[in-house]
Amino acid sequence: MLSSLKKQPADRIIGLSALYNADPRDTKIDLGVGVYKDAGGNTPIMRAIKTAEQRLWNEETTKTYTAMIGDGGFHNAMADLIFADSVDRSRVSFCATPGGTGAVHHVIELVKMTGTGAKVWFSDPTWGNHLSIAKHVNVPVEKYTYFDAKNRSVNFDGMISDLEKVASGDVVVLHGCCHNPTGANLNKAQWGQVAELLLAKGAIPFIDIAYQGFGDGLEEDAYGTRLLAGMFPEMFIAASCSKNFGIYRERCGLIIALSADAGTSAITQGNLAYVNRQNFSFPPDHGARLVTMVLTDPELRADWAAELEEVRLGMLNARQKLAQALQAECGSDRFGFLAEHRGMFSRIGATEAQVDQLRDEHAIYMVFDGRLNIAGVTVDKIDTIAKAVIAVGI
Ligand SMILES: Cc1ncc(COP(=O)(O)O)c(C=O)c1O
Repeated sequence: MLSSLKKQPADRIIGLSALYNADPRDTKIDLGVGVYKDAGGNTPIMRAIKTAEQRLWNEETTKTYTAMIGDGGFHNAMADLIFADSVDRSRVSFCATPGGTGAVHHVIELVKMTGTGAKVWFSDPTWGNHLSIAKHVNVPVEKYTYFDAKNRSVNFDGMISDLEKVASGDVVVLHGCCHNPTGANLNKAQWGQVAELLLAKGAIPFIDIAYQGFGDGLEEDAYGTRLLAGMFPEMFIAASCSKNFGIYRERCGLIIALSADAGTSAITQGNLAYVNRQNFSFPPDHGARLVTMVLTDPELRADWAAELEEVRLGMLNARQKLAQALQAECGSDRFGFLAEHRGMFSRIGATEAQVDQLRDEHAIYMVFDGRLNIAGVTVDKIDTIAKAVIAVGI
């Protein structure tokens, strides 16, 4: 029986890590996999998370199951973080999931369960797993133009003209902030225009917010999500705590669904519990509990927000320094977009052959589509990276 399974394509980003680990050159630089790293190349446990973990160890008295949709304290703390007061909570239902990936998967499964045949629209390009999950769940997929590869910025006219084709009831996935993989994001006016268009079309926004606090700040990064939450009768949000709480392996994510009224919301809530139950039953709790402790304890929250801000400013500094070094190297400001982009990633505009050349000749690893992880650009490596980027002709 198992011999009839087809070979799955390897995940190219995960495969890249394996290649990097096997590379014996001690000059190697990892700009590949999407994990935050500090100047020493480590992915630290955030201070507030460590303190919460110690407290939890002392205070936790049981490991019995939580609710099928996770713990209410987690839902509320995350809703406060993401929405502030932008939405009437009687229309909101929740479901804790294993990571943001679990949330993305379940929302797409829920869309399929509605039986409406709704298409799911993704930006072109988008995070690779969006497309493969949609394929796995077997929903119809459409792509909308997003990126201007020449200028490395949002192709807003192209985006609007494609979103004009969205049908009523279709689901449109938008990155809440820090677009992965491009790093190019909508400004406030563009969020407003997209919102008006989708509302007029009767579309349902689905915001994937995996980097709140990595872009322009915790509040600023929630701008688009809050704007849409205040306007749309129905909307989905998939939130990840992996990056902004640094708890990748705890698998902590959340679905927030907005329904048109409290009655429909209760049914949505029941369906979200059902999806968890059919897939794996109760969601992981450890990471969610730590996040709840951090968000609801003023001291821990202040410390977490301060550390997150250090991380954000560190990445911003790396962006500016790399853009300057590239300007010095090539004598033009054609890499100025690096300082404009936000979040952990930027698409630098390399061909696949140039990405290979960077790896083979300069021991610099980035994703095949030219995505680089800005957190890997530490101050001591900036000149090496800039020289190599120009040397391979990007
Ligand atoms: C756009 C986007 N959504 C969701 C996720 C999910 O992350 P996780 O499942 O690790 O929480 C990621 C992680 O890379 C991402 O980049």
